[in-house]
Amino acid sequence: MEPVLEVKNLMVELRRKNRIQPIIEGIDFKVFPGQCLGILGESGSGKSMSLKAVMGLLGADFSVTGEALFQGENLIGKTKEQLRRIRGKRVAMILQNPMTCFDPLYRIEDQLSETYREHTELTKKEIYEKSLTVLTAMQIKNPEEAVKKYPHQLSGGMLQRIMIGLAMSMEPDLLIADEPTTAIDAITQFEIMKEFIRIKKESDTAMIFISHDLGVISAVSDEVLVLNRGKMADKGTFRQIYEQPKDPYTRLLVEKKKAVMDQYHRALGRKGVISQ
Ligand SMILES: Nc1ncnc2c1ncn2[C@@H]1O[C@H](COP(=O)(O)OP(=O)(O)OP(=O)(O)O)[C@@H](O)[C@H]1O
Ligand SMILES: [Mg+2]
Repeated sequence: MEPVLEVKNLMVELRRKNRIQPIIEGIDFKVFPGQCLGILGESGSGKSMSLKAVMGLLGADFSVTGEALFQGENLIGKTKEQLRRIRGKRVAMILQNPMTCFDPLYRIEDQLSETYREHTELTKKEIYEKSLTVLTAMQIKNPEEAVKKYPHQLSGGMLQRIMIGLAMSMEPDLLIADEPTTAIDAITQFEIMKEFIRIKKESDTAMIFISHDLGVISAVSDEVLVLNRGKMADKGTFRQIYEQPKDPYTRLLVEKKKAVMDQYHRALGRKGVISQ
């Protein structure tokens, strides 16, 4: 099987006032259709920066080298406009804080319409119907009422669900979720994780799931990449990382998280994952 995304020797440097600061120092990974790559690491380890670099979301102060082959096409070196067109349709991104993804001045309906207008040929009526379908699929009650609301009138969990529904309705080839459950309460976290597990079961979308939390990563990931200070600390199947971490840093993360992770699996009903 061909990978959807293959990143080779990705490096990111911050160049400011004659100072060069390495941010990402040579990372490699592949993501395949229907599979989920988990990227694990502590705060500041370079998880977000590595994906932002690949998707062209870094400012002019950053220099990015290496290769990021998306369906065989190198994304590094593409213009902002070319990348913007790829994002949102072929690649969907879900970010940490759902509030920041919605414009507070516009109703949910208008924000969904804008995405569909830009990336599809749907008519106004079809867009409205599609918006309701997305909300219904994401188990939002009274979708007709919900689309009329402004972001601050909905909970963080509901907004995140709408984001995920919107992203998946574009049928992307790659879904990147950067700490999608960090800003929401624990109960909603489980609900959102269930959505990701469902997406993985029901679609062929390749997924990259970023988290500092091994419990969250273990719930969806097939392969795991562990980052430590911008470098790859470990890479392998979830089971390898969990049972035989090569790197002392990974070992520490695993030890710290074993109890929390067991709780997660009980709650998500994914008990078999450790012993499969
Ligand atoms: N805008 C920026 N300017 C300068 N340095 C930055 C900027 N954003 C991030 N960095 C640096 O890049 C490194 C990696 O940051 P990154 O945001 O990728 O971490 P992360 O693993 O996503 O952490 P978190 O779990 O907190 O989201 C950090 O050392 C950080 O200080
Ligand atoms: Mg981050």
